Amino acid sequence: LQRYNLDSAGDKMNPFAEQEAWEEHQMGKASLKYGSKNKNQSNDYEYVFEDKIDFIRDSVIDGENLDELHSELPDKSKEKSALEMLQEERKTLPIYPYRDELLQAVNEYQVLVIVGETGSGKTTQIPQYLHEAGYTKQGKVGCTQPRRVAAMSVAARVSQEMGVKLGHEAHCTSEKTILKYMTDGMLLREILSEPNLESYSVLMVDEAHERTLSTDILFGLLKDLIKFRSDLKLLISSATLDAEKFSDYFGSAPIFKIPGRRYPVEIHYTKAPEADYIDAAIVTVLQIHVTQSPGDILVFLTGQEEIETADEILKHRTRGLGSKIAELIICPIYANLPTELQAKIFEPTPEGARKVVLATNIAETSLTIDGIKYVIDPGFSKVKSYNPRTGMESLLVHPISKASAMQRAGRSGRTGPGKCFRLYTLHNYHKDMDDNTVPEIQRTNLANVVLILKSLGIDDLVNFDFIDPPPEEALLKALELLFALSALNKLGELTKVGRRMAEFPLDPMLSKMIVASDKDKCSDEIITIAAMLSVGNSIFYRPKDKQVHADNARMNFHLGNVGDHIALLRVYNSWRECNYSTQWCYENYIQVRSMKRARDIRDQLEGLLERVEIEVTSNLNDLDAIKKAITSGFFPHSAKLQKNGSYWTVKHPQRVHIHPSSGLAQVLPRWVVYHELVLTTKEYMRQVTELKPEWLVEIAPHYYQLKDVEDPISKKMPRGAGRAKE
Ligand code: CDP
Ligand code: MG
Repeated sequence: LQRYNLDSAGDKMNPFAEQEAWEEHQMGKASLKYGSKNKNQSNDYEYVFEDKIDFIRDSVIDGENLDELHSELPDKSKEKSALEMLQEERKTLPIYPYRDELLQAVNEYQVLVIVGETGSGKTTQIPQYLHEAGYTKQGKVGCTQPRRVAAMSVAARVSQEMGVKLGHEAHCTSEKTILKYMTDGMLLREILSEPNLESYSVLMVDEAHERTLSTDILFGLLKDLIKFRSDLKLLISSATLDAEKFSDYFGSAPIFKIPGRRYPVEIHYTKAPEADYIDAAIVTVLQIHVTQSPGDILVFLTGQEEIETADEILKHRTRGLGSKIAELIICPIYANLPTELQAKIFEPTPEGARKVVLATNIAETSLTIDGIKYVIDPGFSKVKSYNPRTGMESLLVHPISKASAMQRAGRSGRTGPGKCFRLYTLHNYHKDMDDNTVPEIQRTNLANVVLILKSLGIDDLVNFDFIDPPPEEALLKALELLFALSALNKLGELTKVGRRMAEFPLDPMLSKMIVASDKDKCSDEIITIAAMLSVGNSIFYRPKDKQVHADNARMNFHLGNVGDHIALLRVYNSWRECNYSTQWCYENYIQVRSMKRARDIRDQLEGLLERVEIEVTSNLNDLDAIKKAITSGFFPHSAKLQKNGSYWTVKHPQRVHIHPSSGLAQVLPRWVVYHELVLTTKEYMRQVTELKPEWLVEIAPHYYQLKDVEDPISKKMPRGAGRAKE
């Protein structure tokens, strides 16, 4: 286990000491500062791409609910004491002493920027304070989070603190709702149906420092809205110091600083770069566990797959060590984790045991787990990146920024002095890491956002008041794609198709696929496929010790080389035929929770079909009709096989490969349409289906010409025989 010398290595430093403004915090005085023109700080954070879809259900807390439960309380003495304990706990949070001052500032100013380090109580307390102060009498208090999992977890906590049941709603808003936690993307969509957001009295755009695409767009829309709604309060809250930038943007809005409590953090670096950071992280966990004093461990990994791998290996190794070591409680946390399991990370660690939390970036600022004393930071996160030239989006593991590294280290020093083990060298830190992360708007596909803005009647996108404008090239590319999908006409105006597409909280290509399915009479199948694709890559379960079984089970759905989309459809339909059985999922190596989520999304898509007046029709026997509908949305993602077994994308030629997990990875059809590209060791197409090249010209004559799809080789060889593997 002796890999790092945990006690002597590394720089001893307080990562925050050099940041003057933090010292202001340490002095324990709240300050209400007026926006300055001083633009020396700009901390932008990594955005973890955990969700393929902005979830359609919000977490709401209803007033009715509240009264009922409270009137019952006197009888339920046990519940009351739990509630009282939570109330006591609320008073220990760093934000509590500033409650009245904060409410006074909200009362005084329409826009307020609130800064306070993670864990000070911004997300859970401020909406409750506002409720207690009576703001919910005039309308809901809405609070946005960049991530679905954070919104749900925080809402669950707040409902506990308030002693009320948590509600979930789809789309329509109940009159009774007092607090609503949602993703920023959800609020953005809500503006489509409620442009003035009349039902809200206060909006809190939380975790603003993350600078997600939706948050940035909300900024622009809300800045405009507050001019018309003088009664609407807007709070922008952030964990970091880029508050001045927000303040400047919102017309020198005052900044309310919540003094933090912080302990020194000792930072350790590795002496040499680590080849395998997961392995290095695991070894470090075990080493901390056997050599270091009590305190929980937080490990930052890049996604669900890595977390599951690390979870398995850790379980295996600790089992091997048996009773030689104290109990190690392993708690994974990532987007698709069921809520019951999420709750586990917040449970206090039993005496004598140690908890290790395996988390994505979500634990960097969105979630605070008490009791963390050790942080292991491999220095990576998953980042979406976009090439406006080719229009290609990829998700890749990328070194984090220095600002992120600081934030991660700080997670260990919340309740006492902490230690952070960075699995990279000090040299890497200085040379390979950027100071700050680029805001998402500058590195993403904007098609979705452009469609939303167009639906809101905002036509002049170039002059939209962006806090940081996107590259013009990316805007043009988005317009181009929406035009290709027939969502916009030549004048850049929204078409009927575009209006229908905008109803779906999905990427425009998925929405187009759904709208197009009307023509091929297969909307039933297509919404299933859209729902399954939206769940991400967590449908199939492939445990390390049963890979062969799992692969065989998976290949059953691919019989006839129907392609990955149809395979997903078969998975869903088989599950439905078995009455949504959990047992069936186990037997077929399918992740039941992903299926449940797909079912939820599918139900909601079905409701939306009605809204756009598309009938639910099934056409299961005509696979070509289904594939054609897929192609109607995804024709810009077509690729043609090359002699060496790789593919060239048709429109903007680029070399790509079929992902090994695809059912077509060994089949290599001549022409394919793919769902997405992921860059790992190579540029891989994920979720691939064979297509007939003539469909491209038929479906998108404005996009493809005959010469693009001419295929001299296929004339000599019958289709399907062209398995070029030379
Ligand atoms: O938003 P901010 O980072 O300022 O703090 P918060 O999320 O409101 O967290 C305040 C406290 O609530 C922390 O001590 C968390 O541990 C606790 N909390 C919790 O127990 N369960 C949650 N789901 C969320 C927060
Ligand atoms: Mg928060």
